[in-house]
Amino acid sequence: MSKKTVRDIDLKGKKVLVRCDFNVPLDENRNITDNTRIVAALPTIKYLLENNCSIILCSHLGRPKGEFKKEFSLEPVAVELSKLLDKQVIMAKDVIGEDAKTKAANLKEGEILLLENVRFHREETDNDPEFSKTLASMAEVYVNDAFGAAHRAHASTVGVASYLPAVSGFLIEKELKFLGDALNNPQRPFMAILGGAKVSDKIGVIDSLLEKVDTLMIGGGMAYTFFKAQGYGVGNSICEEDKLDLALSLMEKAKAKGVKLMLPVDTRVGKEFKPDTESKTVAWTDIPDEWEGFDIGEKTMEMYSEELRRAKTVVWNGPLGLFEFDQFAKGTNAIAKVLSELKDATTIIGGGDSAAAVRKAGLEDKMTHISTGGGASLEFLEGKKLPGIECLQDK
Ligand code: 3PG
Repeated sequence: MSKKTVRDIDLKGKKVLVRCDFNVPLDENRNITDNTRIVAALPTIKYLLENNCSIILCSHLGRPKGEFKKEFSLEPVAVELSKLLDKQVIMAKDVIGEDAKTKAANLKEGEILLLENVRFHREETDNDPEFSKTLASMAEVYVNDAFGAAHRAHASTVGVASYLPAVSGFLIEKELKFLGDALNNPQRPFMAILGGAKVSDKIGVIDSLLEKVDTLMIGGGMAYTFFKAQGYGVGNSICEEDKLDLALSLMEKAKAKGVKLMLPVDTRVGKEFKPDTESKTVAWTDIPDEWEGFDIGEKTMEMYSEELRRAKTVVWNGPLGLFEFDQFAKGTNAIAKVLSELKDATTIIGGGDSAAAVRKAGLEDKMTHISTGGGASLEFLEGKKLPGIECLQDK
């Protein structure tokens, strides 16, 4: 059932608590290095401003494990948000302490307050009812727009919804539309590309996508577990010995379902885990001892690209190689490029590292949708219910 959004309830002049995912990357000087998640929260905030709401924003940043730590303060987010909105964002010194409560109580229509990092309290991740109640008591309505944290059943993502009318913001609405349509109503051929280091992280998503897609392409570290499962050596490549049977059973399942499961036919191997290490391309059956696989090879890039050119819907999660090192980013970049050139196809990038790779390649504007959720989009693709969405009012 679809969930109510900010459009479906009367918000005019109300005090609204908005949960955002402002978990943004910071450099050593605490400068924000990617403000995508802050920009993604703007449509909801602007809508609430147009409706004369007083807005109390809250979020987590990193994992401070229940204590105040300066390096996890949301202050840089308040500064960035003020800049983007061209409007002062008042920063609270705490989450549910005197400072936050006083500032929230005095907040006027059209003003914005940002509470400190909700994870400065252990009660947040414990989804503590008292903490949720106190947080909720500052507002009249709760809006969840933190898609990236919707897979967490925490106080500010789920608990508060027991005490306030709870609806979604525009970001969650948009994420559900794109990810949901791709999964449930895809234009075919529907193809998925899955990368990332470990099969164990992706079992659920591979299993669930095998029920839906026409083609599934595998890359990244997990490819080597599939190679080993078929009896070939993988040198020093990452390989989950205890998942070999599982890899074989996923291959069987693909066959039984009539899904074209594609594995790399060649791989770029390096001598050491170093950006400038010596490297070469070898066939997937020929990985030398002492060498480590870090990327798909050129033939695989060509083979995957050719297949993708036929796609009408593509979901991509996880880089195809060690894209942080330029010489092993070629496979990931080749896939990003081919997706960027597809005409009449819906291209969905499922958050986390694949989103970072698309941005690094400067191709973000060419994709239909880049999810702001890493873990959340993965769980959604696995077909799991996200607690931060389940707790919202049904339409
Ligand atoms: C993310 O970055 O994926 C979200 O903000 C969730 O963060 P978490 O994994 O620390 O809960």
